Amino acid sequence: MISDDEQGYDLDLFCIPKHYADDLEKVYIPHGLILDRTERLAREIMKEMGGHHIVALCVLKGGYKFFADLLDYIKALNRNSDRSIPMTVDFIRLKSYCNDQSTGEIKVIGGDDLSTLTGKLLMLCFKDIIDTGKTMKTLLQRLKQYNPKMVKVASLLVKRTPRSVGYRPDFVGFEVPDKFVVGYALDYNEYFRDLNHICLISETGKEKYKA
Ligand code: HPA
Ligand code: MG
Repeated sequence: MISDDEQGYDLDLFCIPKHYADDLEKVYIPHGLILDRTERLAREIMKEMGGHHIVALCVLKGGYKFFADLLDYIKALNRNSDRSIPMTVDFIRLKSYCNDQSTGEIKVIGGDDLSTLTGKLLMLCFKDIIDTGKTMKTLLQRLKQYNPKMVKVASLLVKRTPRSVGYRPDFVGFEVPDKFVVGYALDYNEYFRDLNHICLISETGKEKYKA
């Protein structure tokens, strides 16, 4: 849980790509901390889902780093403990209608035929951030039409925002204040995905990459 008055770290203390030097305000969650927390989430997922076959569903584009790193940690546990989670992977993109306002109306692009889920498989969705929760709620409704045995959601970040519809994922990396964050695959108009740390964007950055 990251508190509202968290100031973050000066950029000078970390390695930042030169092309973003003026575009960021602070490092908010350093890459190493993201990885350490992700390692622990892998353990919790193993404890809860060990022994079951799962479909690991990555929600692109923002979820790809969290998905890849968390799966690496789960794979390490699979190799080294008495329990393991057999996994297959799948990838989807969500397009929200209506100018990217979070209306909750989404179009699911890609992914295998979901009717294979019916009655047998457990699914674990990987998401970068739950903001209002509308998108995730809609996606879950969509997935439930296929009657999977169980659907769980792991989100790296959950925002504390008054706009929340009250949705809470099963596994959470960090709860963050109601601020716009970028990096570790989270974007601002497609920029900053190529940044290791989760950072706060500067006024310069907002202006420079405005849509
Ligand atoms: N950063 C990036 N993408 C987002 C955010 C955020 O803070 N909230 C919703 N989508
Ligand atoms: Mg985005």
